[in-house]
Amino acid sequence: MTTPSFHPLTIRECRRETADTVSIAFDVPADLADRFRFVQGQYLTLKTRIGDEEVRRSYSICSGVGEGELRVAVKKVDGGLFSTHANQSLAPGAVLEVMTPMGRFHTPIAPDAARTYVAFAAGSGITPVMSILKTVLAQEPKSRFVLVYGNRTVSSIIFREELEDLKNRYIGRLVIHHVLSREPEEAGLLGGRIGAGLVRELCAGPLKAEDIDAAFLCGPQPMVEEVRDALAACGTPPANIHVELFGTTTSARPAAKMAATDTPTDAATIAILQDGKRKEFTLAYDGESILDAAHRHGADLPYSCKSGVCCTCRAKIREGKVEMAENYSLEPWEVEAGYVLTCQSRPLTERVVIDFDAA
Ligand code: FES
Repeated sequence: MTTPSFHPLTIRECRRETADTVSIAFDVPADLADRFRFVQGQYLTLKTRIGDEEVRRSYSICSGVGEGELRVAVKKVDGGLFSTHANQSLAPGAVLEVMTPMGRFHTPIAPDAARTYVAFAAGSGITPVMSILKTVLAQEPKSRFVLVYGNRTVSSIIFREELEDLKNRYIGRLVIHHVLSREPEEAGLLGGRIGAGLVRELCAGPLKAEDIDAAFLCGPQPMVEEVRDALAACGTPPANIHVELFGTTTSARPAAKMAATDTPTDAATIAILQDGKRKEFTLAYDGESILDAAHRHGADLPYSCKSGVCCTCRAKIREGKVEMAENYSLEPWEVEAGYVLTCQSRPLTERVVIDFDAA
């Protein structure tokens, strides 16, 4: 994994997708083209100053690989500083600091494969799914895709027209089920919400749960967990189910609970390895996260959500032990291999060495 880095990019286009969602396309200069090459389903972290505050947020890329553009979609959330700014004030010509693409919400493309893909998305959870869907349909001509997309009303469906066009372009290979929670059921539209009942209903029809090669779930945590469990119960192999959360139900992260380990001192010594350099500081066992402490000591480490969701702050433990309060993004093998989310990590041993240069 290359070390993520910020670069100033100029906005080429702001396109209104719905009343509260704008998509933003960036110009990528030729000398940065390699650094901004992305895989379907990845996200960008955007950084800017709003008033006196430095704000950074992650947004999924909605372009397909090979479409020749780098575009994210930003849905306005109530009280959201950046999302309100993006929807009301950003315009072509503005420059944002953009971090190189990150994220592993994808499976490798195999042009000769004939796979069955399924995606369950709610609201702006469609954004990475859009990138995956367009890439798969264009680059795996024998694969098919079923999209289940939940919204409140027809007018809140992001990319509605583009999805219709895709359905017409890929007749027989793309099936879309719109699920609307605040509109009466009618032809082509399902009422209600995405949940276990709907998964069971779909899997009782022509879609066989055990035949799903890759299921992509993106939305709020309760929906994603319910769909994941229902798919697994219907027979989809758990390894084929891929999850991306936006927002978590955990609003305040508790300090990591202390395990009964060797902590004879009041504070641990933390060493951060980054870009071949080493920075050391001490940190109380039950205090702030390693990421926050490192920033307070002048380190410039990558981060975005600080909630254990985005994985931007991932690093590898070289010495010692930490405890993570939350982990919504590391795979079990990564935890096994010693990777941690530093925004969620607090020391458990007297000495901890953390490597941000580890691939
Ligand atoms: S900053 Fe997002 S998981 Fe740590």
